[in-house]
Amino acid sequence: MAQFNGRFIGSIVVLTGAGISAESGVPTFRDADGLWEQHDPMEIATPGAFRRNPDLVYRFYNARRSMLAAVAPNQAHQALARLQREFAGEVFLVTQNVDDLHERGGSSQVCHMHGQLQASLCTACRRSMHAHGDFDRHSSCPACGAVGCLRPDVVWFGEIPYYMDEIEARLAECDLFIAIGTSGLVYPAAGFVQRARGAGATTVELNREPSEVAGLFHHRRQGLATTTVSALVAELLAG
Ligand code: OAD
Repeated sequence: MAQFNGRFIGSIVVLTGAGISAESGVPTFRDADGLWEQHDPMEIATPGAFRRNPDLVYRFYNARRSMLAAVAPNQAHQALARLQREFAGEVFLVTQNVDDLHERGGSSQVCHMHGQLQASLCTACRRSMHAHGDFDRHSSCPACGAVGCLRPDVVWFGEIPYYMDEIEARLAECDLFIAIGTSGLVYPAAGFVQRARGAGATTVELNREPSEVAGLFHHRRQGLATTTVSALVAELLAG
């Protein structure tokens, strides 16, 4: 148990978005120079885009996957891992990010609601597999051998994010909900603050600037994630 603003906290849900990885050098989506400033998401991140132009979609995700080798977790990822290790209650970490920086930062449990860059999904046998290197429409499934059936195991616009039942259950029972580095423009993640509040949780937003749903949080702290997350984790562990 810890105290936050005079309230006992036994269970925490943390939601992260692209902003937590920004200081590691991973581009966000909607900031200046963000991925969606350079690419139309409707031409890259939808099932229809994949049907129309698979080569473009494979190239985009292959490039993002290979970029992971050049980046490292930052203090914000590490601070959340420390919270998971040292907090006496429950800490459930859900991320919209498809990078592996939470894992490399030391997090023991990470719920990737939008999938992972380092995974492929076979549309023939429906298995998800670890994928370190490039794959494309000529690749064969390591599990069933089908050729041309591998897609990036990421959730595209129009698809249902993963683990929603578990996330909803965690939100329904948490005492503290913390959103970090997310613009609040993409649902269902943008609606988690309302779910948590509805269940009686205290809610905190840590973001470089107020998000689209900033007004729904009890507390808002503006700044870079490496600073704000480290400070909040220290506060929670001290309390
Ligand atoms: P966005 O790019 O929409 O938002 C990133 C947020 O992080 C913005 O509010 C920035 O102000 C903030 N930010 C940037 N740098 C920061 C820093 N150093 N410290 C703290 N905050 C910082 O990214 P997401 O909200 O994660 O989905 O995007 C949500 C989803 O939209 C993604 O998962 C992806 C995208 O389309 C799919 O592809 C399905």
